[in-house]
Amino acid sequence: MSENKIKWGIIGLGNIAEQFARDLALIPEAKLYAVASRSQEKATEFGATFNAAKSYGDYDSLINDDQVDIIYIATPHDSHASLSVQALNAKKHVLCEKPVAINFAQASQMTAASKANNRFFMEAFWTRFNPSFTAILSKVRAGELGKIQYINADFGFIMNNGQSRLEDLNLGGGSLLDMGVYPLFLSYMILGNPEKVQASSLFYEGGADKQTTMLLNYPTAQAVLHSSFIARTNMHAAISGEKGRIVIDPNWHEAQGYSLFQEEVETKFELPTKGKGFTYEIEECHKCITSNKIESEMWSHQNSLDLITIADQVRKEAGIIYPVDQL
Ligand SMILES: NC(=O)c1ccc[n+]([C@@H]2O[C@H](COP(=O)([O-])OP(=O)(O)OC[C@H]3O[C@@H](n4cnc5c(N)ncnc54)[C@H](OP(=O)(O)O)[C@@H]3O)[C@@H](O)[C@H]2O)c1
Repeated sequence: MSENKIKWGIIGLGNIAEQFARDLALIPEAKLYAVASRSQEKATEFGATFNAAKSYGDYDSLINDDQVDIIYIATPHDSHASLSVQALNAKKHVLCEKPVAINFAQASQMTAASKANNRFFMEAFWTRFNPSFTAILSKVRAGELGKIQYINADFGFIMNNGQSRLEDLNLGGGSLLDMGVYPLFLSYMILGNPEKVQASSLFYEGGADKQTTMLLNYPTAQAVLHSSFIARTNMHAAISGEKGRIVIDPNWHEAQGYSLFQEEVETKFELPTKGKGFTYEIEECHKCITSNKIESEMWSHQNSLDLITIADQVRKEAGIIYPVDQL
């Protein structure tokens, strides 16, 4: 890590890579060193926009560049596992977009590669580091709402035609893995692993789920969760306990504030994010790497494995099957 900056490489220069690069520029300890696309032209343009030292027209060159400290993987879900394992084997640290992988089997290969190579690995579950979310989790864990008995969260947008990644089963398409993992994450963080999972989906002709509704049962609580590519939902989340409730402002996964209701008296908290909000997961990566940790305590390997296990359970219930499941 020369110049005391952590040198980042970004693979897959699509929508999220651009948003991430903008936030990376807000972190003084980070340097965007290299970018890689399947297209040299795209890499050159992206690299020039974000002032990267290297712009590669293939992914392998970035993965094998000795100057790169950590690689942010921003490709569709189907390649999260293979690229993460390749990067970890090349002794790079890895921040990989959500969902961590398509299924548990793939995710466990990723965490194993992190351990085998002694390199940091984290799923880029940025909501975990969102200031509103961390404040809410502290309040819930401190018992301010009493025992939690109900969670309700949705995540639905109407997707425009032509966004083929979202419908292509080979790329991990479908609303559950793209969006449904957020409500599942909320329920998991507050209530843990469910005892029972029920789910039902509507499907595109090709087999990807366009809408999925989930019911998670816990010993003394339930969560009703929803993801959709065909309906714009409220994008809010509510956590209800014996003594009060919290409603997270829309869009709750990137919240800028929340309301606490006790005795139906509302207290409003405003917590604007630095940049879009990817800044916090970037800072967590830096913290872990500089203290030689291969995983974050805030969003650990086990957390990612648990979450993808719950997603696997939802898929089994709803009948969402990917080609890779049959390998
Ligand atoms: N954290 C968040 O808020 C958030 C938001 C959106 C998406 N995501 C996640 O980030 C990942 C990428 O999503 P995105 O919305 O950025 O997708 P996107 O706009 O389609 O970009 C994905 C990029 O991956 C590369 N790629 C490699 N193989 C590909 C293939 N077979 N088909 C299409 N693209 C391929 C392409 O980059 P090159 O052409 O440069 O190689 C493409 O531009 C997904 O896993 C998604 O779940 C996270």
